[in-house]
Amino acid sequence: MSTEEKVANHYTHGSLETAILQSLAADGKDIDNLRIRDLAGVDEFHLGRHAATVDFARDLDLSAGLRLADIGSGLGGPARHFADSYGCIVSGIDLTEEFVQVANSLTARCGLADQVSFRQGSALALPFESGSFDRTTLIHVGMNIEDKARLFAEIRRILTPGGRFGLYEIMQMRDGTLPFPMPWAMELETSFVRSPDEYRLLLEGAGFAVELEQDRSALAIRLAHEARAKAAGGQRDQGFRTLMGPRAGERSSNVNTSVEAGLLAPIEMIARAV
Ligand SMILES: C[S@@+](CC[C@H](N)C(=O)[O-])C[C@H]1O[C@@H](n2cnc3c(N)ncnc32)[C@H](O)[C@@H]1O
Repeated sequence: MSTEEKVANHYTHGSLETAILQSLAADGKDIDNLRIRDLAGVDEFHLGRHAATVDFARDLDLSAGLRLADIGSGLGGPARHFADSYGCIVSGIDLTEEFVQVANSLTARCGLADQVSFRQGSALALPFESGSFDRTTLIHVGMNIEDKARLFAEIRRILTPGGRFGLYEIMQMRDGTLPFPMPWAMELETSFVRSPDEYRLLLEGAGFAVELEQDRSALAIRLAHEARAKAAGGQRDQGFRTLMGPRAGERSSNVNTSVEAGLLAPIEMIARAV
């Protein structure tokens, strides 16, 4: 089995849409007329959750009508935010068929299908014309992709010159052994976490100039503390549990403690296509 097949299997749940809709209905939401905020907590699969997406979008200099490709779009929470808050026209692409289907369904239920669409495909062979996007985003996807030189070359190819690429990725900040399972991989075999230095070098090699870099660990740590306090009070983070399935608690805890120990960090970089 190829790495991509293993990664898609890792994320496939089997009955994710039913699980999400049931939990939304149980919370009193109208599942046929969803608002984006109804999905908070279930449709963003990265550290810092929606707060991180809001800050990231602000740094990307978005405006109405910009064409944006979200690579590894998951359930589409970030893509819907870029469209709903800024008026971007968003194309999401993701390896995991089930995520693509659920992302399109949630988007239609939010009334955003004319601005946002998702298709299945690989970040290493993007099914888009060269120069067809003004912005590209990559949020917590690089950890599953070994060949980052090819990834960034593909992303550079689909951007217009002067276009911006925003990435928000978990990176390794010092030497040390990662604990597994992690949210993105049960074992090291499909985990390719790299350092900010490596990311920067590969970005420059692919024709990007890095214009902004920031460590979002403080936000991730604060949200992890809040989630722990809620769990201690009997309020579990059901959205993340639904997404992660087996061993969800252990997987969350492994990434959170690695960030707290300074071994990993969620890093945002904004790069311009030169
Ligand atoms: C941790 S999730 C993040 C999803 C989304 N970006 C978010 O922040 O909510 C990682 C996503 O990357 C996708 N992915 C991993 N490797 C990929 C590849 N080679 N091509 C396209 N998508 C990929 C997975 O299917 C999964 O949906």
